[in-house]
Amino acid sequence: MPWLWLMRMDGLSIKSFLQSATFSAFSIFAPMKKISLTGIKPTGTPHLGNYLGAIRPALELSKTYDTVYFIADYHALTTVQNGAEMRANIYKIAATWLALGLNPEEGLFYKQSDIPEIFELSWALSCFTPKGFMNRAHAYKDKVAKNEAAGEDPDANVNMGLYCYPCLMDADILMFSADIVPVGKDQKQHLEVTRDIAIRFNNHYGDILTIPEPMIQEEVAVIPGLDGQKMSKSYGNAIEIFGEGKAIRSRFMKIVTDSTPMEALKNPDTCNIFKLFKLMATPEEQEELRARYLAGGMGYGHAKQALYEKYIEYFAPMRERRKHLLENPKEVEDILQYGAERARKVAQATLTRARIAVGLE
Ligand code: TRP
Repeated sequence: MPWLWLMRMDGLSIKSFLQSATFSAFSIFAPMKKISLTGIKPTGTPHLGNYLGAIRPALELSKTYDTVYFIADYHALTTVQNGAEMRANIYKIAATWLALGLNPEEGLFYKQSDIPEIFELSWALSCFTPKGFMNRAHAYKDKVAKNEAAGEDPDANVNMGLYCYPCLMDADILMFSADIVPVGKDQKQHLEVTRDIAIRFNNHYGDILTIPEPMIQEEVAVIPGLDGQKMSKSYGNAIEIFGEGKAIRSRFMKIVTDSTPMEALKNPDTCNIFKLFKLMATPEEQEELRARYLAGGMGYGHAKQALYEKYIEYFAPMRERRKHLLENPKEVEDILQYGAERARKVAQATLTRARIAVGLE
């Protein structure tokens, strides 16, 4: 491949190479934009809180960054160990993100397991990872704490995939020279490990890897569920994204409010219904509903109805697209295949650089 050869000749770092004129002729990424990378675990179905708090902000990054989105299927294998379930999850999560607006032509969209280069880089990085880092990594530590609390062997049901989880995550991120990585608070420590390993590797071999910054998504916590607590599947207060018909309407009708009487003025800013409405409505629609709250004479039932209608309208085109994709699996497969081909070119460039540095080429 000519660009790999040119990169070697120029002795450029992967980042400067990806942004160099030489590469941009072939490039998937526009030169000089920063790269953001989002990992999507194919476990469970995202709910409205995940969409408003994490998925939508992650998709909006494409306005400012060159974006990389991938399905972390090999990470899921630490817990999902049923082939049919895994296959279905991958397919469903891909269709969901595509329906929600992920544009596969822009940036990269692929599944991790389609890029074998990641596993090779993961091994190289793990040779620079002190074992103590893994002992302290929170996914592993949480499991150990639970085992101890239950009086079990500390390592009961801990597989090596879970233990080494951060080493694979390092390779996911460093392979694509990510500048920023949007993650929830729970993943912050894993990002710190990634930075640490990349710095060690660079100190040893020169400027090979880009040091990523975490972009912590705080908003997830403030998306209220039916009871006003943070929306979460485990609290049973979540609203699905693609709901239709009576069942979903009755979920909206269950949203907890105060008991201000029908005639009285109501405060939109402390109301869970209005908080959710705001996240989907235009500024004009928000003002209109706000005025109804402040005028009095509107019951919460009316506000719930307005929210329900807004939700149906907001997700209508996405619901259609998802339905189409679920009925046409070949389309999703082709998109992932297309993404894998493009992503492998970038991965091969990084891996070659790392292989040369460590002395394998
Ligand atoms: N660990 C992440 C999660 O549990 C998923 C993930 C895997 C990821 N590799 C990543 C996230 C790389 C960001 C970057 O959600």
